[in-house]
Amino acid sequence: MREVYVLNGPNLNRLGTREPEIYGSMTFAQLADLCVATAGELGFRAQVRQTNEEAELIGWLHEAADGEIPVILNPAAFTHYSYALRDACAMLTAPLIEVHLSNPLAREEFRHTSVVSGLATGTIAGFGATSYVLALEALARQP
Ligand code: DQA
Repeated sequence: MREVYVLNGPNLNRLGTREPEIYGSMTFAQLADLCVATAGELGFRAQVRQTNEEAELIGWLHEAADGEIPVILNPAAFTHYSYALRDACAMLTAPLIEVHLSNPLAREEFRHTSVVSGLATGTIAGFGATSYVLALEALARQP
């Protein structure tokens, strides 16, 4: 079975209680279950991870690069300013799909910049947990 990393940045462990009017009521554990189940239906084994630490997220991207493993990445707030994360994304050796629960372009100005988007195969944002489902489907359709 093909592997896929579903990597999540800071504060996403708080889903369920974090600003539910923006991020919905699904918990991170429920989101992880949804990703694993959807990936399984599409023929992937998903490893879903979350960290509040930039260094840990970068380490996982290095692992993905070394293993030629595709990545679905919600960089959370790192999206908007982490050049270190961007540089790690530049090393990836398989597709990268950027996802967001909310639509950052419809929110505060500082969220309108993504330092990651330019390196992604594509970006899916604004559909809540469905953004992840769509990202997995897009990955499955990649040549
Ligand atoms: C987010 C959007 C980011 O702007 C924010 O910092 C997050 C979550 C999203 O999934 O909508 O933490 O990446």
